Amino acid sequence: EKGTYPHYMLKEIDEQPAVMRKIVQAYQNEEGELSIAKDTLDAVNAADRIYIIACGTSYHAGLVGKEYLEKTAKIPTEVHVASEFVYNTPLLSEKPLFIFISQSGETADSRAVLVHIKELGHPALTLTNVAGSTLSREANHTLLLHAGPEIAVASTKAYTAQIAVLAILAEAAGKAKGFDMKFDLVQEMGIVANAIQTLTDDKEAFEQIARDFLSTTRNAFFIGRSMDYHVVQEAALKLKEISYIQAEGFAGGELKHGTIALIEDGTPVVALATQENVNLSIRGNVKEVAARGANTCTISMKGLEEEGDSYVIPHVHELLAPLVSVVPTQLIAYYAALHRDCDVDKPRNLAKSVTVE
Ligand code: M6R
Repeated sequence: EKGTYPHYMLKEIDEQPAVMRKIVQAYQNEEGELSIAKDTLDAVNAADRIYIIACGTSYHAGLVGKEYLEKTAKIPTEVHVASEFVYNTPLLSEKPLFIFISQSGETADSRAVLVHIKELGHPALTLTNVAGSTLSREANHTLLLHAGPEIAVASTKAYTAQIAVLAILAEAAGKAKGFDMKFDLVQEMGIVANAIQTLTDDKEAFEQIARDFLSTTRNAFFIGRSMDYHVVQEAALKLKEISYIQAEGFAGGELKHGTIALIEDGTPVVALATQENVNLSIRGNVKEVAARGANTCTISMKGLEEEGDSYVIPHVHELLAPLVSVVPTQLIAYYAALHRDCDVDKPRNLAKSVTVE
């Protein structure tokens, strides 16, 4: 039930701090350490390469998950859109593990890949919000998202839940291999939950940003580098899906390779700046588009902020920044859709779970 909320989407955005805490609890063992079922962990660590398969928002969570699996567990990882993988399967490694990410667990495109790789005899792990869903039943292993039912067509809390579970999986896999962990994930996830709460408590700021940058525009660009590049792709999808504004999320460095030709007077460009090693470069990109007339909105992270930034999110560990930086973009998309009188929870032409290929 959406209770006093006008839309499920807003309720689900607001649930994210609680979901982060719930996931940590669900994966903590009696000693308070994050842990994953042994057979699942063994399957992950037996793989010479992981193939993440997903669609839409879940695919975008997979892009972040790849970073965790490679940086924390040192397992080479590829991320594929399910509908492409099934007809154009890449050359596989000798001992692949497939990770399916699906909120609903019912997405036909992902299931087609699962059927295909099972025929080839490869193991599969499904990350899903729905226990007993098709993708969970048909895979060898399941990790649940513990996000609670997601009703709005636009996925919000499932995205952050997927990233959180992938961080936990990568940490458990890395620890099992004897690698040193660079930070305490339980503690950092607590900081993340509080940071998200700060943002959901500050909705007026994002309503204002949506009003200032998106109320009349026909198109919008999101730019980011490194981890922020993954998040801006999700930000663009969310905006397109519910506000029908044509939006594109791309790597800041790619601007000069074509997209900058589209910048006109007043074109909204939203930049994310949460990653220290690319902060200077993304700032440079913002200046480039501003010089060509773009209406720029920079959302940075505390510690990396500059004068003139539209919003500064609280500081969290850089690797976990996507969990927090996506929230302003969810809220901005929500308010942009609202200002344009769009049906936020049931955007045109879309279904919550896509059970046809
Ligand atoms: O249930 P799934 O996670 O498999 O769904 C995948 C996509 O259809 C889904 O994420 C879609 O992109 C969302 N509507 C985006 O908000």
